[in-house]
Amino acid sequence: MTRLRIFSGAQPTGHLTIGNYLGAIRRWAEEDQHRADALFCVVDLHAMTVEHDPARLRRLTRQTAQLLLACGLDPALCTVYVQSHVDEHTRLGYLLECTATDGEMRRMVQYKEKAAQERAKGGSVRLSLLTYPVLMAADILMFGTDEVPVGDDQAQHVELARDLAARFNQRYGPVFRVPRATHPAVATRVMDLQEPGAKMGKSRAVTSGVLRLLDEPDVLRKKIMRAVTDSGSGIAYDREERPGLSNLLELLAAATSRKPAEVAEEYAAAGAGYGVLKRDTADAVVELLRPVQRRHAEIAADPAQVDAVLRAGAERARGLARPRVDAAYEAVGLMPAAG
Ligand code: TYM
Repeated sequence: MTRLRIFSGAQPTGHLTIGNYLGAIRRWAEEDQHRADALFCVVDLHAMTVEHDPARLRRLTRQTAQLLLACGLDPALCTVYVQSHVDEHTRLGYLLECTATDGEMRRMVQYKEKAAQERAKGGSVRLSLLTYPVLMAADILMFGTDEVPVGDDQAQHVELARDLAARFNQRYGPVFRVPRATHPAVATRVMDLQEPGAKMGKSRAVTSGVLRLLDEPDVLRKKIMRAVTDSGSGIAYDREERPGLSNLLELLAAATSRKPAEVAEEYAAAGAGYGVLKRDTADAVVELLRPVQRRHAEIAADPAQVDAVLRAGAERARGLARPRVDAAYEAVGLMPAAG
């Protein structure tokens, strides 16, 4: 029987946040790499869909890889690599562009939001921002992936990957497995501490509401103590009516492996106020990130070791993806090169 295959990735568009960690990376490390043949990718090509600075991209790609390892991805258990090191991503991306439609791309929520942001800044929208979910589908489908562990914001993209797999298979024969997204029970969408209506994102311009994995403990504390809450009184978990408070409850619950509603009840029963909740959340987040920060310092001190991990990872990823991408090329009618 073939082993369950898991694939996921993170974009090096900014410094990884606690949203990335709780929404995705923590599960990759604690669960996924132990129960499946798992691949995790620093998706650098995706980071070029909006205006980018080459030196920063290079720096953040390395930092993201280091952080994935610091978060506990173990190269003895899973495959960690950089997307642009494996040509199969773009090879398959093109075939899937011939499978997807313009209309379905324009319906993607993230495209609409990011395109509007780029236009608001007076910039133009790169064509790759529109086709990005197709490349993401290629990332997933080329490995015969069963499960894609992601935060809630990527659900629509994984849904597209499912549609494209099914459509391709129906037209050309059974080449791809149809994957499914998995999400964490708590903290599947961590919100910005200053703007609880918006997702905490690594590329946000204002960073006072964003908890970065490498923020110093006192910076983490300050950001949490200054988090926007609401004018209601008492502690209650209600994402619709009390978004700022509920976000803190989710952070605390996720950091201490509990349920937000239970945490809320505990604080409400004790008659605690926002100040106590914030202090406890800050303590829990600092403790959660302490080992990650310590390991990151060790890993960053040995770049040759990181290079070796990424080299071996890319080689394995290439070997796994190639036969399926070749099969897809043949299935659509492209003439195989004489070998
Ligand atoms: P990216 O780099 O934005 O985020 C990496 C992972 O972190 C999750 N995440 C969050 N979870 C909870 N709360 C948040 N505030 C939060 N912000 C981010 C994301 O859901 C994601 O799981 N398109 C993807 C990268 C990608 C990918 C793939 C993922 C490219 N190809 C193939 C899976 C499979 C992205 O931009 O993630």
